Amino acid sequence: MSLWIYPGSFDPVTVGHMNIIERAASLSGRLIVAVLRNTGRSPIFTMEERLELLRLATSGIPGVTVESFGGLLAEYARLRGASAVVRGVRRASDYEYETQMALMNRRINPGMDTIFLPAEPAYAPLSSTVVRDVGMLGGDLTGLVPDAILDRVQKKLRAMN
Ligand code: COA
Repeated sequence: MSLWIYPGSFDPVTVGHMNIIERAASLSGRLIVAVLRNTGRSPIFTMEERLELLRLATSGIPGVTVESFGGLLAEYARLRGASAVVRGVRRASDYEYETQMALMNRRINPGMDTIFLPAEPAYAPLSSTVVRDVGMLGGDLTGLVPDAILDRVQKKLRAMN
């Protein structure tokens, strides 16, 4: 059993993220889903909301915990004793960006590697931005976010329009 970290902004978590979480947890045995604190962007969902939505969505998946982190990902992984960071790759442009980050992270923490999991084709067009846009314009988010959080995400986004 090893410990991996799945980092991201999760604003909000989507079914695409859930697919990566389920696969990574079953491969590693223990997975920390880590929500980035000091992102340059202004998230729609607060940190507390994103943590709670992730906890609700992942409560049935063995070995998964959810927490926030700040600073360098590679240092955070070292602190937690994680052997790998996992990232979902949806298309070629993701891969280009992710390999650059993976190499830099390994330079900072040579004890850590990055595992790329290819996104299932059904989830390739999905992003948190797509979910936010559809939700704010009153669209149905069924099948885009996990069922366990559908009502909460839908309500918050509709209220913002
Ligand atoms: N399914 C659906 N959507 C996915 C997805 C998947 N499998 N994988 C990624 N996405 C989407 C996200 O929803 C997000 O969408 P949005 O832009 O519409 O909101 C987008 O892809 C970006 O992904 P995300 O993982 O949230 O952010 P990021 O690419 O900015 O990376 C970190 C986040 C945490 C990995 C990175 O910023 C980091 O490591 N920060 C720490 C500081 C650090 O160490 N920097 C040095 C790195 S060398």
